[in-house]
Amino acid sequence: MTGVIIGTGSYVPSYVIDNNELSQFVDTSDEWIRERTGVERRHIASDETVVSMAAEAGRRAIDSAKIAPEEIDLIIVSTISSDVILPCAACEVQKALGAVNAVGFDLNAACTGFVLAFNTANAYMMSGLCKKALIIGSECLSNLTNWKDRRTCILFGDGAGAAVLRAEEGKAFLPSAHSDGTKGAALTMKSRHDRNGITKEILPQEMIKEEYFMKMDGQAVFKFAVKKVPEVIRDVMKSNDIKQEDVSYYILHQANRRIVEAVAKRLDEPMEKFPMNLNEYGNTSSASIPILLDELNKKGMLKKGKLIVLAGFGAGLTWGASIFRW
Ligand code: UT7
Repeated sequence: MTGVIIGTGSYVPSYVIDNNELSQFVDTSDEWIRERTGVERRHIASDETVVSMAAEAGRRAIDSAKIAPEEIDLIIVSTISSDVILPCAACEVQKALGAVNAVGFDLNAACTGFVLAFNTANAYMMSGLCKKALIIGSECLSNLTNWKDRRTCILFGDGAGAAVLRAEEGKAFLPSAHSDGTKGAALTMKSRHDRNGITKEILPQEMIKEEYFMKMDGQAVFKFAVKKVPEVIRDVMKSNDIKQEDVSYYILHQANRRIVEAVAKRLDEPMEKFPMNLNEYGNTSSASIPILLDELNKKGMLKKGKLIVLAGFGAGLTWGASIFRW
């Protein structure tokens, strides 16, 4: 058995902050951000939460799959930024959608999270544990962003993307995924719950200590991504006996245009095979791949029977690539 994607959906907040607006409260410029990252604007939550965005993206994916919520038997939400810990976001999504027959849990593997959610759902299907899964990446990174730190706040945005998978007869493609905890210091953030049980989220931003915001050694993560992503893509293609000419798109985590370009160059593949939307949304962590997947689907760019490679990388450090046939 293998998991086949039968529907996609996404949700992004309508409130947008462009680079020029950002440069009014942090020392940066539209030119710097565009040149170094490719980001032009980002969508930022106002009333939305990880759960509300995940539920809406999930609802749209279920509609596009033309199934009933009751048919879903597994829900995985990949997130690092949920405002609630218990119950998990997946159970809240289950409640919102009426997916009463599903088991739900959250997964934290940062920007590789959606790829690992996809692998997990596939593994459930291969073992006969589930028939229809809803997998979601949902992030409210604006909650974790230090809006005074120009090295990070210019990068991130909020949003959610989702896909419905159905188990079908056929050989599954095996994924390739890795972690290297020894390099974890490159991208860190502490839980905002201090030892007295007072959540830092109720404090104004200026009173929150630096360690409770996302901190990143940008260059270290950049070098890691440019080296490891082409490697893992080559690995996954080799182990599944797939040739580059068989792949129609590489859908990469949308962190930086220069990373995507460097990966394309190292694989000696044309940029047309690497769709991007990070100019519009910035880096939405585990939501970036499913938001892009949904956009390509809506635009009719995904052709039946064609192969697609997904690749994620991020905190942990974690990285991985998976293949599926549309
Ligand atoms: O999704 C998780 C994975 N994360 C990533 O993939 C992020 C990977 N890293 C990156 O995308 C890039 O490293 C960044 C976009 C974060 C930074 O770009 P960079 O080309 O590596 O810049 P840098 O950190 O080397 O900084 C170059 C200069 C520095 O000034 P000096 O020391 O040369 O005078 C920075 O202080 O640019 C300065 N700088 C800025 N200037 C204007 C850093 N951030 C900004 C800014 N605006 N926002």
